[in-house]
Amino acid sequence: MSRNTVAFISLPAIRHNFKVAQKLAPNSKIASVVKADGYGHGITQVAGALQESELLAVATAGEATALRNAGWRGRLLMLEGFANPEDFDCSQSLNAEVVIHHPSQLEILRRRKLASQAVLWLKLDTGMHRLGFGTSDVKEVYSELVSIAGQERVELMSHFACADEPDKPMTQRQVLAFDDAVRGLEARHSLSNSAAILNYPSAHRDIVRPGILLYGISPLSDRQASEFDLRPAMTLTCELVAINHCRKGDTVGYGASYTCPENMPIGVAAIGYGDGYSRHFRNGTPVLVNGKLAWLAGRVSMDLITLDLRGHDDTVTGDKVTLWGEGLPIETVAPWAGSLPYELVCGVTGRVPRVVV
Ligand SMILES: Cc1ncc(COP(=O)(O)O)c(C=O)c1O
Repeated sequence: MSRNTVAFISLPAIRHNFKVAQKLAPNSKIASVVKADGYGHGITQVAGALQESELLAVATAGEATALRNAGWRGRLLMLEGFANPEDFDCSQSLNAEVVIHHPSQLEILRRRKLASQAVLWLKLDTGMHRLGFGTSDVKEVYSELVSIAGQERVELMSHFACADEPDKPMTQRQVLAFDDAVRGLEARHSLSNSAAILNYPSAHRDIVRPGILLYGISPLSDRQASEFDLRPAMTLTCELVAINHCRKGDTVGYGASYTCPENMPIGVAAIGYGDGYSRHFRNGTPVLVNGKLAWLAGRVSMDLITLDLRGHDDTVTGDKVTLWGEGLPIETVAPWAGSLPYELVCGVTGRVPRVVV
């Protein structure tokens, strides 16, 4: 029997979620974030569904190259800019826009030739302390970038640390720090990821940068995607390959970490951490078997999982198991692995075919 472990990718769902993003931020252009292989969904297919984006945003030169090779002729942003002169040359040959966040990049810019249409995104660190120039350096760096690229080709951006936690004052502080630092500078602004699009309309500005929301996943831990009319783009499925009739007291899987409380059927399904189904999923993690709830029973192994199939009397080998997606929100499943939907979708490995529906 061939192994039928598949991540179904719904392009209509991605198109729909893009429209939701447009409705949420009606006065902003959209830079769709498709890094990390389109959050594990397949960068080129995802890009095909996001043709109406003002920009596509990636992390690496390799991802930018993949998009150009796939035929994306529109605006393309490298969110980490370039780390060395080779990456810079690559960005210019791809006509990609680059984020400038560090003095070492200015050194490279001074020595290399900028393509005539190149756009530079000046990134401010407004409190996250990851990438970006300190707010007190911004005016000086802005002047230098304007002298290199021209005023029309410099954009201003920052990134939020806590936009998914509106109870914290951090995001408001970051907005204030940004506004203070850029006062008087002529440029478009880009601040908001998915969580800020939902939580901070005043931070939408000229260009929003949604990622997770486009894949139909809520960025907010206490809200489901369906509450925002978002549709899941990835449904991860596999098949039952065996059903064992275990007796009360039998243990299941590595470490014998699950003990059958009664005589019961244990299903064996063809997915494991080698496919990106995290080994951290605990006993009791929900799955769907033929659309009906069942539960993980025993440790996840590399290629297989074991399931409590009590109440599934009609189930047979070959029946479909859904790990997350349509009918089982990934937001519900992720906490069972102590994880986030971001990590789960990005973690689906290359041996799982992405089948576009
Ligand atoms: C700079 C930047 N902007 C936007 C995003 C999109 O974030 P989200 O997927 O939470 O919408 C990311 C993702 O990590 C990012 O690094």
